Amino acid sequence: MVLCVKHLFGPAAAIFLSAIILLSCFTNLIPYLSYYTFPSSPYMSPEPVPKCDIFRGEWMPDPSSPPYTNETCAHIQNHQNCLMYGRPDLEFLKWRWKPDGCDLPRFDPHKFFQVVGNKTLAFVGDSLARNHYQSLLCLLSKVALPKDLSDPERPHDGNKIMFYEAYNFTIYTMWSPFLVRFEEIADGMFNLYLDEPGDWLPSVPRFDYLILSAANWFTRQTYFYERGQLVGGRYVALNITTNLTSNRYSHRMAFRTSLRALNGVGFRGKVIVRTVSPMSHFEGGAYDKGGDCPRKRPYWANETAPMSELERDFYNEQVEEFNEAAARGMDMVLMDPTIAMLKRPDGHPSRYGHWPDQKRTMYNDCIHWCLPGPIDAWNDMLLHILAG
Ligand SMILES: *[C@@H]1O[C@H](CO)[C@@H](O)[C@H](O)[C@H]1NC(C)=O
Ligand SMILES: *[C@@H]1O[C@H](CO)[C@@H](O)[C@H](O)[C@H]1NC(C)=O
Ligand SMILES: *[C@@H]1O[C@H](CO)[C@@H](O)[C@H](O)[C@H]1NC(C)=O
Ligand SMILES: *[C@@H]1O[C@H](CO)[C@@H](O)[C@H](O)[C@H]1NC(C)=O
Ligand SMILES: *[C@@H]1O[C@H](CO)[C@@H](O)[C@H](O)[C@H]1NC(C)=O
Ligand SMILES: *[C@@H]1O[C@H](CO)[C@@H](O)[C@H](O)[C@H]1NC(C)=O
Repeated sequence: MVLCVKHLFGPAAAIFLSAIILLSCFTNLIPYLSYYTFPSSPYMSPEPVPKCDIFRGEWMPDPSSPPYTNETCAHIQNHQNCLMYGRPDLEFLKWRWKPDGCDLPRFDPHKFFQVVGNKTLAFVGDSLARNHYQSLLCLLSKVALPKDLSDPERPHDGNKIMFYEAYNFTIYTMWSPFLVRFEEIADGMFNLYLDEPGDWLPSVPRFDYLILSAANWFTRQTYFYERGQLVGGRYVALNITTNLTSNRYSHRMAFRTSLRALNGVGFRGKVIVRTVSPMSHFEGGAYDKGGDCPRKRPYWANETAPMSELERDFYNEQVEEFNEAAARGMDMVLMDPTIAMLKRPDGHPSRYGHWPDQKRTMYNDCIHWCLPGPIDAWNDMLLHILAG
């Protein structure tokens, strides 16, 4: 029997559901894995080598990793605590991201606090945003531990407020898996209000930095609403005539609405749009059909990491919506770890995100990232962006 993850484990497990439903299309996706050549990303490193794109490079051996463990960081979500669940191969911890033509220093918590002192950083998104946020807390834990000022009215573990008193630095995570307003109308089925920003928008005046990300939840069963009217849907029966039946549409509109809303409220901080985290690392079957991510090393430079059509389309939409919004003059940076992460099929929990006898629909998690793990590089990139 498949347990109802959500009710048994609380909202934390909604993450799993997210991935689970997203994967309902995986059986279809696998044959379409394609090899996609990325344009160079719009964000160029300001230093030290001109025109170095920190998002294009390779993973290089790094014996000094990892920077923390399950013993030294108390903020690791159980389902990503691969060391605790006994993952035996630890090679996946021994790599660092090396951009072509320059270096990306490993995360330096002292430098980070210097940059963010007296400021507020927010993560808005789904469980991958939370994965990123927990990596940041772990990397900072060498230097300081935060006070939890989370709102008890918002107990979801995707809604947190963490305050670093010595540096007057605050981190928010805000659970908004579709970025726009949504309602769950049945188990795993949602109404999306594609022209209405999520409930994070009223909080943004207090943020200096806002990291927006989304993708995975658009593969769920969803109805699309605009101006309060049903206009389309994906993986649902529709009783209207419409051509809006692709999650490419809902995904694009969610980014468009969110970025326009930020512009509309005159957001003065820096907006960081974080691109797709790979959804296609399952091999040998779908997420619920025994698929797994069994690789034990990154793809080498002479190998091409496969990318699904869905990932490529979501990626392109994010870049396009980013470019459109950036043209309006907001302070925006595209944080583009997609290629780096495509090369890390070895960095997921797989079956080390729970005990072996725990039944889960996505028994092998090839969506989230182990902590510590390759997702720590997202914070190397983040510090580089904020410091530059
Ligand atoms: C950390 O992981 C090790 C196994 O690698 C385990 O023995 C230990 O109990 C874990 N500690 C915590 C606090 O999770
Ligand atoms: C915060 O601002 C105060 C003055 O406004 C300054 O004295 C202090 O050094 C700043 N703290 C950090 C960590 O930047
Ligand atoms: C903390 O930072 C806020 C701005 O985020 C500032 O208004 C406040 O004065 C700072 N507090 C101290 C004690 O520096
Ligand atoms: C489909 O049409 C029926 C009858 O008009 C209506 O009750 C129902 O709410 C509609 N479904 C959706 C998703 O709008
Ligand atoms: C749907 O049809 C309308 C009108 O024909 C067209 O303008 C629009 O681009 C179409 N949308 C999609 C997503 O194909
Ligand atoms: C690809 O690169 C790896 C690591 O550098 C090397 O071991 C392997 O032999 C190379 N394979 C080919 C086909 O060149």
